[in-house]
Amino acid sequence: MRFVPTSCLREGMQLAKPLYRGNNELMLACGVSLSRRYIDSIRRLRYPGIYIDDDISKDIEIVNSISDELRRETMTGLSKIYITAQQGGKANNRLDINRQVEDIVDELLCNQSMMLNMIDLRSFDSYTYSHSVNVAVLSIIIGIVFNHKKDDLIKLGLGALLHDIGKVFISKDILNKEGPLTENEFDIIKTHPQKGYDYVVDRYNMPILSRVTIADHHEKYDGSGYPKGKKKSEISLFGRITSVSDVYDALTSERPYRKALSPSEAVEYIMGGSGTLFDPDVVRVFTKKVAPYPVGSSVKLSNGWVGLVIENYESFCLRPLIRIFQEDGKQVTPFEISLKDDMEYLNVTIEGLADGI
Ligand SMILES: [Fe+2]
Repeated sequence: MRFVPTSCLREGMQLAKPLYRGNNELMLACGVSLSRRYIDSIRRLRYPGIYIDDDISKDIEIVNSISDELRRETMTGLSKIYITAQQGGKANNRLDINRQVEDIVDELLCNQSMMLNMIDLRSFDSYTYSHSVNVAVLSIIIGIVFNHKKDDLIKLGLGALLHDIGKVFISKDILNKEGPLTENEFDIIKTHPQKGYDYVVDRYNMPILSRVTIADHHEKYDGSGYPKGKKKSEISLFGRITSVSDVYDALTSERPYRKALSPSEAVEYIMGGSGTLFDPDVVRVFTKKVAPYPVGSSVKLSNGWVGLVIENYESFCLRPLIRIFQEDGKQVTPFEISLKDDMEYLNVTIEGLADGI
């Protein structure tokens, strides 16, 4: 399978992964052939793209970091917590999401060599919950490289999953505003980490490490963040980790006020903020585990060739294994090159995504 951006979809392409709406309802099943109507729906729901199967990609398997079933289960559990918070729910002192977070940690611990390889196929209306699950997954992946024990990884995952619970108490008009925010509106947004912290302290028996993750997720390494303007080690490590995961996943999502960045653009942004916005140690681990060109991406090389990324290597994120299928605009019999190992391609670099293929 391979990833095709929504702008490049054509009738007759065959869906390689099912698509779900925000409420977890199946929208299009695996194997469906795209019609004009389906393409219009995919556009309307602002999916970034879809995975398709075709001759050059049918043997490429793309495995998500966690199972689709666990992802959907976690999103459902999270939506219940959000709805309870919105309704001013009574204290129950028990978080029903603990089991799912433990399952996520177990799945990720079983696949420690795995990189974040999959582009999340989310519709616009499922942003809050799918974003929160992604932030938890990426934060746990980083936490694993930092050698945290399972108990602590669960605490990190819980905090990361609920990092934005405080947004429940912010007006939707401000959260979804399409134009620039006024100073006053931004001041209101800035209260959500503290509001989230206060809410979980009040309602849930949540470990302190999870709570501070919520409180610190918008603090910046150089002190320019909010709500407290903490610096460096004044910010909890889990807060520093979640800050990177949160920004990366937000940048790669379509939002009311801007278009989604590609994974490579978002990775570059995070690298650019190393030591200023973000903890350099966290950024170092992040760049080891997040592929700028996920498996299934079509890429353009500096020698004029176009190919599909078929494998990424930890710590060599810009030197994947690539299946070349086009040379100087002409189709060729596909062959594979490893930018990491093949010495003859040492000078060849990835120039960017080959959209339109
Ligand atoms: Fe936030």
